[in-house]
Amino acid sequence: MLVRIEQYKDLYVLSRHAAEYVCTTALESVEKYGYFALALSGGTTPGILYECLARSPFSETIPWNRTHLFWGDERCVPPDHPDSNFFMAHRALISKISIPNKNIHRMKGEMNSPGEAAEAYEQELRHFFNSCDGDYSSVHPFHLILLGVGRDGHTASLFPYDDVLNEETRWAVAVRAPQGVSPAWRITLTLPVINRAGRILFLVSGSEKREVVRAILKDQKSEETLPAARVRAGNVMWVLDFEL
Ligand code: 6PG
Repeated sequence: MLVRIEQYKDLYVLSRHAAEYVCTTALESVEKYGYFALALSGGTTPGILYECLARSPFSETIPWNRTHLFWGDERCVPPDHPDSNFFMAHRALISKISIPNKNIHRMKGEMNSPGEAAEAYEQELRHFFNSCDGDYSSVHPFHLILLGVGRDGHTASLFPYDDVLNEETRWAVAVRAPQGVSPAWRITLTLPVINRAGRILFLVSGSEKREVVRAILKDQKSEETLPAARVRAGNVMWVLDFEL
């Protein structure tokens, strides 16, 4: 696993560099494989990145007609709910670019049963990647997955001590967030599919996360308690707006 860490002076500068990384990966993926499979992260940190991608030069450089957008996780709310990760990405990015609707692979958090929504998403993932070229898509389905980190070390909706951390076969599951975290039910990609991504980009903003990021990156035992420490894809980049 190759890990790179880049530290920037603030979230705006961080987001601009992250946009350049996404754009470069998109161009390389389309050149090599004919498409770009990108999984977006939720929370608040990536909002400025998404706004960057919706503006020049990225909006006209990224081949949106060959780009497929997925999500790393989603809250079990309607897509127009303010807590929806799709809602945030749609407002900041999707509503501002010309990307075919068929290229938007939304987790349907509004479904009555979170478990059925997760199963439906897994079917959509497997159908899409099975229809792609050769063995690349089966080995490295996502070219790039964006991830954030919570102060408890969670990433996507993989929370500490949750059984989902030991999932070995399913690519998407329903999880109940820890007590006090709202919305309670989520759909999340699992570690087996996250760890097969070609590249992972962690975006972390706020010095209050310094200690958890230090533990993830430097404490050999952190993966017992910090889910983000279990992300071990081949090529992991961290962009931070604080000194480690
Ligand atoms: C979510 C995210 C979650 C997020 C972290 C960081 O749905 O909330 O996927 O994993 O990335 O909680 O969130 P912030 O960017 O808001 O700090």
